[in-house]
Amino acid sequence: MNKKYILVTGGLGYIGSNTVAILKKNKFDIIILDNLSNSNKTSLRNLRKILNKKIIFIKDDVRSKKINNIFQKYKIYSVIHFAGLKSVKESEKRKKSYYDNNINGTKNLLNCMVRNGCYKIIFSSSACVYNEKSKSPLNENSSLKPKSYYGVTKLKIEKILKGYKKKYPKFSCVILRYFNPVGADKTNTLRDNPKKAENIIPNISNVIKGEKRIFNIFGNDYPTKDGTCMRDYIHIIDLASSHAKSLSIIKKNIFEIINVGTGKPYSVKDMVNCFNKYLNKPITYNFSKRRVGDVAICYSNIKKQRKILHFRPKYGLDEMVKSVIKSLNI
Ligand SMILES: NC(=O)c1ccc[n+]([C@@H]2O[C@H](COP(=O)([O-])OP(=O)(O)OC[C@H]3O[C@@H](n4cnc5c(N)ncnc54)[C@H](O)[C@@H]3O)[C@@H](O)[C@H]2O)c1
Repeated sequence: MNKKYILVTGGLGYIGSNTVAILKKNKFDIIILDNLSNSNKTSLRNLRKILNKKIIFIKDDVRSKKINNIFQKYKIYSVIHFAGLKSVKESEKRKKSYYDNNINGTKNLLNCMVRNGCYKIIFSSSACVYNEKSKSPLNENSSLKPKSYYGVTKLKIEKILKGYKKKYPKFSCVILRYFNPVGADKTNTLRDNPKKAENIIPNISNVIKGEKRIFNIFGNDYPTKDGTCMRDYIHIIDLASSHAKSLSIIKKNIFEIINVGTGKPYSVKDMVNCFNKYLNKPITYNFSKRRVGDVAICYSNIKKQRKILHFRPKYGLDEMVKSVIKSLNI
């Protein structure tokens, strides 16, 4: 019972597995809780190869009452909570399911935590909680107004966490608002592999793999340097490291909301050009009309991540792109 663990919910998913890989040198052992709804045991096998330490895997759902047993059986130092549904598009059609998975799942997890004396949590929020009218660089006090139902669930969870901090003074919480993760771990095995490509990297990857012929860019008439949208991309290894940093500050009994990005926006065309530097066959692209809901520029103010998390991303766009290409195994 003396041994302490980190419980990683959703730890076999893209960001979760990369975070577990980063925790290699951390003194705690790892318990992964995942219902495998958007992952499979290949990442567990890959993680066991990468990590030379014990990983306990529990296949269950964060909404299950049974997860109380995990807290009874193991001394959990902190939870890192990734488990949830994440598709912006799908969230509009399956609101109930998103509410249940994301919000009810988190409530159940929090109840089990406090019932068993675990008061530390790091939560995966998203830049999509911000109001699209807020001007970039977005800081943590920029106005909030999620556009998608997915974003609504993230903001609601942030509020629930605030409520826990009020109710339980011992409660300690770091909410990370991620910008756009790109790439894979150093072994190139822990990569984003969505069933449906909604975002830029999975779409570009499909063209590189030959599964799609042309990469479609939505809009070339935005008020940016080349007319295409600009975003804040962050290497997955950097994003994963921000959780290790969060674990080191969470002992101080805090409640912090922190953006995690690089603070440097790149356009869609920058991204394509960067890929083309490293590919034998350049990516063919065309332009279509603007996509509803896309803003011209969105990137993070990174002062708080520097000051509070002592975190500075190490990798730039070239490393992100090279990492994606390597992970495709082509
Ligand atoms: N990927 C991004 O661009 C991004 C950006 C901002 C925030 N986030 C958030 O970060 C977290 C992780 O994202 P990801 O990209 O790794 O997603 P992912 O889908 O790859 O990983 C989520 C994992 O959680 C598991 N899961 C889902 N619902 C569950 C449940 N009810 N019980 C137990 N396990 C469950 C899935 O099987 C999966 O392994 C999510 O909460 C997501 O909303 C992701």
